Parts: sequence; structure tokens; C-alpha cells
Amino acid sequence: MDFLTVGELGRDGLAEVLATAARVKRDRDSVKGSRAGLRVGLFFEKPSTRTRVSCEVAATDLGAVPLVLKQDEVGLGKRESVADVARVLDRYLDVLAFRVFRHGDLDTIAAHATSPVVNLLSDREHPCQALADLQTLAEHRPLDGAVVAYVGDGNNVCASLMIGGAATGVTVRVATPPGFAPDPSVVAAARAMAAAGVDVVVTEDPAAAVRGADAVYTDVWASMGQEAEAAERRSRFAAYRVDEALFGLAAADAIFLHCLPAHRGEEVTDGVVDHPRSRVFDQAENRLHAFKALLLHLT
Ligand code: CP
Ligand code: NVA
Repeated sequence: MDFLTVGELGRDGLAEVLATAARVKRDRDSVKGSRAGLRVGLFFEKPSTRTRVSCEVAATDLGAVPLVLKQDEVGLGKRESVADVARVLDRYLDVLAFRVFRHGDLDTIAAHATSPVVNLLSDREHPCQALADLQTLAEHRPLDGAVVAYVGDGNNVCASLMIGGAATGVTVRVATPPGFAPDPSVVAAARAMAAAGVDVVVTEDPAAAVRGADAVYTDVWASMGQEAEAAERRSRFAAYRVDEALFGLAAADAIFLHCLPAHRGEEVTDGVVDHPRSRVFDQAENRLHAFKALLLHLT
């Protein structure tokens, strides 16, 4: 199976991967070497720190062989068609993990490969991130019945969080400026996956989203590839910064989450990223455990 969108695992698959991620975090040695010789391709069309390193270390810990490929050498869709790159890499590799600009390229790769294809971030979703997000939330409180407020851009990270959250019993309340709400297809996917009692909320009011929430989440206002819009977005998003006052509206024990990298002083203040209840570095660590669990599930 592939993992292009977090919904692809289904509710049971998600629960299983999250349970495995918690187990391998507790006992790293228990799965050491369990995928000896598995060849894992990790392709990047844009920059990465967490994804590249956590996936490479996860594969290595399992005894697998990670191969990192960059766009400047492969020329996906430029030097060679996306379909032909997929056909070729499929002959060498057992897992094809890709970070791309266009989600449609992942569909093309999956259509021309027999090995599992994994989305390492596209313009539509960041499903590996959502696994780590949910693992981190589950370390704070049971997922079922939890409320997460996502404040900012209705982007790839938001989409995977909405869908993955809905599937695991988490109500995700999204607050974005006008014109930056998640795509209606994402809202529909989240509603279709929603466990009993889950509400999928999209609003333009950050305070309404955050009030009483168990976690507050934000991401950059301009994603990779949107740098030209950064100045315009800074003014459109100014009222959506997660600062101490907004974070203070959440539950008294609420945690702060961010996929990182953070643009400190833009979408979030230093005081919130560095708050005693910020869990952003646990989240980054959990990328490692979550990817290991995903590889164990897919292969
Ligand atoms: N959160 C995340 O995907 O980080 P990188 O872009 O550094 O991989
Ligand atoms: N939304 C961000 C996430 C980075 C991990 C981006 O796509 O650049």
C-alpha cells in the first residue's frame, strides 16, 4: 500500500502505526535490524532537515539501506518524466518516499511503481508529520475526545492534521484568515474519516478556535515555494500569530505544537515556542519513531 494521504491508513491502520511508534520509542532495540537490506529511497524536490534525517536514521535503525536523492541530480519532470523516474527507481528500491511540490506527481509515481510510495510532503498533505503530531498529542492525553486548535494557513500540514485527527477521535478546529481556509476536499475527507463525536470546525476566529483547546498548533504563513507571497501573507495573517495571550485562552494544561521550522516572531512568538508547555522538540523527535512505525507497517 501507499501513504500519500494520512487517510489511506484508515482508522485501524492509523491506530496500529501510532501504537507501534509509541512502542519503538520506548524500546528502540526491539525492532533493530528487523528490515535488514530493505532499500528505502528518499527523494527531495525541496529542502528538509527533520524529514531527511529522521527517515534516514529510522531506516538505518531497522537495518534498511536509505538512499537520499535530490532534485538537482534527478531532475524529476525535467531531465526525465515523472513516470519514467518512478519506473526506474522501482527496479532498484523497495520503498519510494518523495517530497514534491505537486501532489499529482505522487499519484503519477504511485501509478507507475509497485513498491510502496510515501509522501514526505506535497502541496496537499504532510502525512508523516501528522503521525508525529498525533503521537505527541497522545503523550499528553488520550486522542479520543481531544481538541486541537490549528491557527494560521490552511496548508498541507493543516490538511493531514485535520484528516488524521478526525480519524483518531480528535476534533481539530481550524482558524485561518479569509481566503486561506483548507480546501473543501480536505474538509470533506476529514468529515468522511471522522470517528464518533468528532467535529470538523473551520472558522476565521482564532480565539474561538483556541478557547479551551488541549493543544494549539501553527505552521509557517508562507510554505516552501510561496516565498514570493511572504510579505503579503505577513499582513494578511498578522491577527493569527500564536502569542502568549492567544495560547492563554487554551486549557490550563494545553500544549503547543509546530511542525517546524518555525519563523519565530511571525506565526509564533519566542515565548510560546519556548514555553514550558511547548512540545515542538518532542514532535520533531517523534518523526523518527513514527517513520519507523510506518516502514514496519508498509513493508
Ligand atoms: N517538519 C518538517 O517536515 O521539517 P523539514 O522540512 O525540515 O523536513
Ligand atoms: N507548510 C510547510 C511545512 C514545512 C515542514 C511547507 O510546506 O513548507
